[in-house]
Amino acid sequence: MEDIENLKLNALKQIAEAVDVKALDEVRVSVLGKKGSLTEHMKCLGQLSIEEKKQIGQKLNLVKTEIEQAMEARREELSVKELNDKLLRETIDVTLPIRDENIGRIHPVSKIYEEVVAIFGEMGFEVADGPDIEDQFHNFNALNTPANHPARQMQDTFYISNPDSENFDDSYVVRTQTSAVQIRTMEKKQPPIRIIAPGRTYRSDYDATHTPMFHQVEGLVIDKKTSFANLKGCLYDFVKAFFELDDIPVRYRPSYFPFTEPSAEMDIGCKKSKTELKIGAGDDWLEILGCGMVHPNVLKACGINPEEYQGFAFGLGLDRLAMLKYGIPDLRTFFESDVRWLKHYGFMPLDEASMTGGLSNNGGSAR
Ligand code: DAH
Repeated sequence: MEDIENLKLNALKQIAEAVDVKALDEVRVSVLGKKGSLTEHMKCLGQLSIEEKKQIGQKLNLVKTEIEQAMEARREELSVKELNDKLLRETIDVTLPIRDENIGRIHPVSKIYEEVVAIFGEMGFEVADGPDIEDQFHNFNALNTPANHPARQMQDTFYISNPDSENFDDSYVVRTQTSAVQIRTMEKKQPPIRIIAPGRTYRSDYDATHTPMFHQVEGLVIDKKTSFANLKGCLYDFVKAFFELDDIPVRYRPSYFPFTEPSAEMDIGCKKSKTELKIGAGDDWLEILGCGMVHPNVLKACGINPEEYQGFAFGLGLDRLAMLKYGIPDLRTFFESDVRWLKHYGFMPLDEASMTGGLSNNGGSAR
């Protein structure tokens, strides 16, 4: 009897001390298993007298039940603990801020794109689109630049042969200018028209300020009373908003584009030194875009009566704007896909450009 009492106390102690379900199982085998200490006692019952068998048998059964219950209770306790520990280990605290270094950056060209769309969007311009592979009609002819026109030589065009024609005039081009979207828009839409067309353009050129693929934004306004004064007001508002300045000196120099008459180039005031370019003040000028009044031939090519409608157009280089605004010296680096470069010059994805929320978020870039 003494023995059984000890066995019980010992077993209960081991159960209480079992650190996990596995250890508890080992205790179970050592007490209740085939060769367990309690089982051994049970086996001996046969050798006892009926009276003893009854008495000890009863005692053994009680002890067995007690041990089993203690074991069950401990098992329950341990599995809850194990689950809790596991949950604790696998917790992700979603309230922690994201780690900046792990998220990507917005490319400066995409940022400038957003900024330009935000500014002109506020002025009521819609965004229009056209294909990268164009026919010569949309890229040149309809823009008052017929075959053999000297202006064609100014653009180092990539031609793509036309599988359906041997004639060179039928070959396609990768568009050299977003001006092609002017034509596509006027073909589809009746005036009043007020669009910008940002997109990729291509020319065979490669140095610090030229890459074979680059980005332009075209602007086009057509209405019954559209004047050069409207053009000047619109572009003045644009450069002020873009460079985030209250005032900025501007000047227009006469120029030539086949699709505008008169044509001009717009310069903005700046101060150039060996190490710095400061926009908005100083005695120097920086060319920023080409513009003019839409040539009557362009309107005619699109079935719009130039006696009734006139308009203005402008075109600017997005990459060049990015270089100026964010002080990036070499255009070729834009397209090298170097993550270190992107980390340095890129922008946080959540800093969305808007006229109300701030364009470049006061330098809230990743730099
Ligand atoms: N397409 C011209 C270029 O690539 C830029 C341009 C100049 C566009 C004057 C215009 C414009 O719409 O009016 O150089």
